[in-house]
Amino acid sequence: MVIDNHLMPDGEAPYDDWADLYDKVYAYLNYDIGFYLSQAEASAGPVLELGCGTGRIALSLADAGFSVTGVDISPRMIAKANGKAATLGLGSKAQFIAGDMVDFDAGGGFGLVCFPFRSFQSMLEVEDQREALENAAAQLREGGLLALDTFAPDMEQLGDRRDEAIPFHIRDVEQPNGGNIVVWGQNLWDGLSQVNSARLIVEELDANGLSVARHFRDFDLRYTFRYEMEHLLELSGFTLEAVYGDFDGGEVTEQSDDLVWIARKTS
Ligand SMILES: C[S@@+](CC[C@H](N)C(=O)[O-])C[C@H]1O[C@@H](n2cnc3c(N)ncnc32)[C@H](O)[C@@H]1O
Repeated sequence: MVIDNHLMPDGEAPYDDWADLYDKVYAYLNYDIGFYLSQAEASAGPVLELGCGTGRIALSLADAGFSVTGVDISPRMIAKANGKAATLGLGSKAQFIAGDMVDFDAGGGFGLVCFPFRSFQSMLEVEDQREALENAAAQLREGGLLALDTFAPDMEQLGDRRDEAIPFHIRDVEQPNGGNIVVWGQNLWDGLSQVNSARLIVEELDANGLSVARHFRDFDLRYTFRYEMEHLLELSGFTLEAVYGDFDGGEVTEQSDDLVWIARKTS
């Protein structure tokens, strides 16, 4: 069995080491695509995705006919996304560029800027959060839309797992080749900075159920509470249009896992 124990060294592009693993671990993830597609339609595009990863959302929007620019700080994620765009014949609709969401200038004039699948939570300091949102506003044309989703902070899940030695099972993800990926997690929550240091343990099983590789990946996410986020949006040049507790427009409740945000650039 391969043990791939890559714990992110300081200074490395976050997620660079996820590039080969990301699409396998998130093979189940499609429940948010309809939401981002509906926002692209409402805005009429073009679309800028900040923190686009391997192009999961951007390529779906390009496939629906939108012109999409994807930006990610990880050159390896960007290489994956460009490779997928070429394979899918979407190279003329989707372009992927390495850059930092806090200051990347994609030329402006976008109808929609989005941060799908919690990419905004990679902003670990308030200043970075502000700069990323202000940059999003600068990239939008007048009246343009912002759409993003964040984890709804679940203090029970975060707080109780502090320093937990035994990883908790997150999910099994079936693979197209008949194998399985089993994902385990550990959280270290720092209530002062609102940053959760997460470790995912990703076990690859072949079609016979034999373990062939185990990957360890660390990453940090800053959690933002509902009303704090509302203030951040307003301070950064947006007018809140809606916050939902899921991707189908459900209300925010104690049980919500996600906060799904729509805001408009303030004129
Ligand atoms: C959880 S992934 C989400 C990827 C994609 N949006 C999706 O829906 O599958 C977060 C992405 O944000 C990127 N990221 C983190 N910090 C960033 C930054 N400062 N600027 C641009 N991208 C960043 C990571 O490299 C990673 O690919």
